[in-house]
Amino acid sequence: MFRLGRAVFNTPFEAGPEAPRRRAGLGPRFNAPSCDACHNGAGRGDPPRDGSAPTQGVVHAALSSPGGVATNRPLRVESVVGGSDARAIVRWIETIGGYADRRPYSLRRPELELRDADPALGRLHAAGLRMANPLVGLGLLEAVPDATLAALADPHDRDGDGISGRVHRVRTIAGRYGVGRFGWKAAHATLLDQTTVALAIEMGVASRWRRPPEDAAPEIDDELVHALVAFQRSTRLPDAAGRRAAGETPARPASAAVARGERLFHEYRCAGCHVPQLATGAVEDAPWLANRVVPAYTDLLLHDLGPGLAAPVGEGDATATEWRTAPLWGLGLARSDRPRTFLHDGRARSVEEAILWHGGEAALSRHRFLHAAADDRAALLVFLDSL
Ligand code: HEC
Ligand code: HEC
Repeated sequence: MFRLGRAVFNTPFEAGPEAPRRRAGLGPRFNAPSCDACHNGAGRGDPPRDGSAPTQGVVHAALSSPGGVATNRPLRVESVVGGSDARAIVRWIETIGGYADRRPYSLRRPELELRDADPALGRLHAAGLRMANPLVGLGLLEAVPDATLAALADPHDRDGDGISGRVHRVRTIAGRYGVGRFGWKAAHATLLDQTTVALAIEMGVASRWRRPPEDAAPEIDDELVHALVAFQRSTRLPDAAGRRAAGETPARPASAAVARGERLFHEYRCAGCHVPQLATGAVEDAPWLANRVVPAYTDLLLHDLGPGLAAPVGEGDATATEWRTAPLWGLGLARSDRPRTFLHDGRARSVEEAILWHGGEAALSRHRFLHAAADDRAALLVFLDSL
């Protein structure tokens, strides 16, 4: 199933009656023809260059409704016949700032312009970008019990540390309620949910569970969907995370800088959201995922990171400014043969820039980083790269 799933993940789907049966069903509207087209090598998507359209991410628009409340609408920017939902062009806006020690930095954020929007959709009045997540340790993240996450939440900040954190309660296709944990806004609780949404929205491929509005009948066999899930559940962890998940504690840290960076990570209260480890419970159909350490550096909860990172509109129960704590395992493995980018819309061109965008509940963490000595900042970055 792993091998079959890997093949499906890498297979570009095709449109039209001549398409081979096991890869038929692309479109009519879609964003990319295969999972791998966006999650290249199971890695994160590359953001578009200035003046270009995104190819490894999804544009989410705010859709005005008659009642006046805007809703979130993922757009499909490609089509095999006829028009797409809309086209999108990204412009990067630069701003500059400085650390307390006067060393300058520059940050950029995307501004999206929509063109040729399909009038049948209604009024789209703002758009934001979300890049494809790196797909690390998904089976372990799925197997963390809901109760563990609920126990980490502190929605009313009763402990007064400035960090709250809410679970994103969502309905699964199996019809139960669960704690959302996948996607930048934790909108999906299971890999089957995330995968069938990706098939329907990103690729326009209808499955038994979900179909795009244009398709009447399933286009992909159930077996291939199950294989995709099996593949994602079993992908390898980065070496350091793999050793921790196997219960091995490193005899000594890799270097003095890593040890120092780890201490600062706690001092700057990064660990208040990026919880170093969680644990899985029992997993009936995948015993190899049961009772494992999950060194993902996330609490999988929603946190308000402030207006600087806001999406045009909320999604499900998540508000515009709330995002799931991004897992940090594998951060140093972000592909080095191309620029590394971070955060939901790929705006951060380095881990350092990602930290500087933290606001809201993470304002104190950012403040401490901003006022840290240059060699402390460097040690923190070395630690993060070691995960
Ligand atoms: C057009 C690009 C694109 C394609 C094609 C695509 N994805 Fe994604 N994927 C994304 C984006 C963007 C997100 C972030 C979703 C969000 O937050 O709304 C994502 C998120 C995910 C996640 C959540 C990971 C996490 O850490 O929470 C999984 C799992 C995933 N995709 C699997 C798949 C699979 C399987 C396929 C193929 C069936 C696929 N994706 C196809 C862009 C894509
Ligand atoms: C209040 C919770 C919170 C605190 C505190 C916090 N973070 Fe985050 N972090 C997040 C959230 C939520 C995101 C995702 C934001 C987004 O994509 O817009 C994130 C994203 C990141 C990313 C980008 C990851 C990626 O894959 O794109 C890095 C790196 C990071 N945080 C490091 C840190 C460090 C280092 C600290 C301490 C200085 C810290 N964070 C403190 C919640 C927090």
